[in-house]
Amino acid sequence: MKQIVINGGKTLSGDIAVSGAKNSAVALIPAALLSNEKVTITGIPSISDINALNEILEYLDAAVLIKDDVIKIDASNVISKEIPESISVKLRASYYFMSALLSRYKHVEMYFPGGCAIGARPIDQTLKGFRALGATVIEKDNHFKIFAKELKGTYIYLDMPSVGATINTLLVATRAQGETIIENAAREPEIVNVANFLNSMGAKITGAGTSKIKIIGVDYLKSGFAEVIPDRIEAGTYVIAGALIGDDLNIKNVIPEHIENLILKLKEMNVPIKVNSTNIIVSKTNNLQPTNIRTSGYPGFPTDLQQPLTVLLSMAHGVSTLEETIYENRFQNIPYLNSMGANIEQLSQHIIKIKGPCQYQGGTVLATDLRAGASMILAGLIAEKTTYIDKAEHVLRGYEKIEEKLKQAGADITIVDI
Ligand code: EPU
Repeated sequence: MKQIVINGGKTLSGDIAVSGAKNSAVALIPAALLSNEKVTITGIPSISDINALNEILEYLDAAVLIKDDVIKIDASNVISKEIPESISVKLRASYYFMSALLSRYKHVEMYFPGGCAIGARPIDQTLKGFRALGATVIEKDNHFKIFAKELKGTYIYLDMPSVGATINTLLVATRAQGETIIENAAREPEIVNVANFLNSMGAKITGAGTSKIKIIGVDYLKSGFAEVIPDRIEAGTYVIAGALIGDDLNIKNVIPEHIENLILKLKEMNVPIKVNSTNIIVSKTNNLQPTNIRTSGYPGFPTDLQQPLTVLLSMAHGVSTLEETIYENRFQNIPYLNSMGANIEQLSQHIIKIKGPCQYQGGTVLATDLRAGASMILAGLIAEKTTYIDKAEHVLRGYEKIEEKLKQAGADITIVDI
């Protein structure tokens, strides 16, 4: 097991550069399978979720070349064979292979995907999309056999704007016959990144980034190129670190528009923040104001930043509330933050009340999932004495070189094997 050890109280300054977005990269890589030619993706973050996807590519006999943050994938020899549960369970995004293989071969067999244990995370909307496009889905226990004689364009309304279901439907519709309209599509920037990649291969997709996406199916996808967008959740995590203990901490390689929701909230909380075109400079204030947050799909406040933001709310002078509307189990960090000195009460399954300011003390805590782990790191950075965070593997799934980046900005942080 890996453990993160932090001696808190060190001011953060200088630069932190944001990496490519995990949630884009994990969709772009499976999307490469739609092409019969070699594709190139730059800005791939070095995180363990990407390693798990590469394992699947290798298993499917794709020719893969990785150099630094560039991946070249030649899927011309890929065959659709069953992806074992031992691999698919490693991450949520494994189910993008479900749609990619269905799209290209009209047949796929694989198991329910994995991912952070933050809720039930059903895939009914993805399956609804597949069925609407003409596929038969045979579901037994955790196993899915999905096939179609023909995939045909359709008009589909998603019951909720699911990121996964939007991307999965998009991937299948791209090679289906005729026109597909996805209504109530998710609007996350990662979806635009994927659509642009597919269009570079010859797909005909319009409307990505809005709630209505139109796809005209094509038979053949050629060579294509994508640059992974900067990770808005990683950027947001470091901006929050700067608001907690920064002295002109400069977060570079940011698309500020992608975290406008966070920036506006921080301004409301009185955080000194300067937003430029591709970087954000942020410092700590001794006059942090409380606020109320409600998570929702993009462009609303992202669920993936609520756990990191909770630490900042606990330093505000007064009472804040936070409502989580996306996942039913995303407050697993709260008992650990309280054990370090926070004063947070869970009012219902979806709402917490945070009384601040508090003084965090080091101790031994757990990264129950990726973003909970990020919140533990933030608490550790401002705590007195030493914080030990167990199960750091969760954090390494989504934050590239987090130890190196924070150290360079002045933090006393190490990751050890225990
Ligand atoms: N949902 C359903 N049925 C479905 C699909 C979704 O009920 O068929 C529900 C989910 O249970 C959830 C909500 O709809 O309550 C939203 O789920 P969505 O499908 O949008 O999430 P996802 O695609 O599984 C991605 C990110 C998550 C991020 C969410 C929301 C990836 C690999 N994961 O998940 O990222 O929280 O979108 O923005 O892209 C993370 O990075 O820490 C993370 C969990």
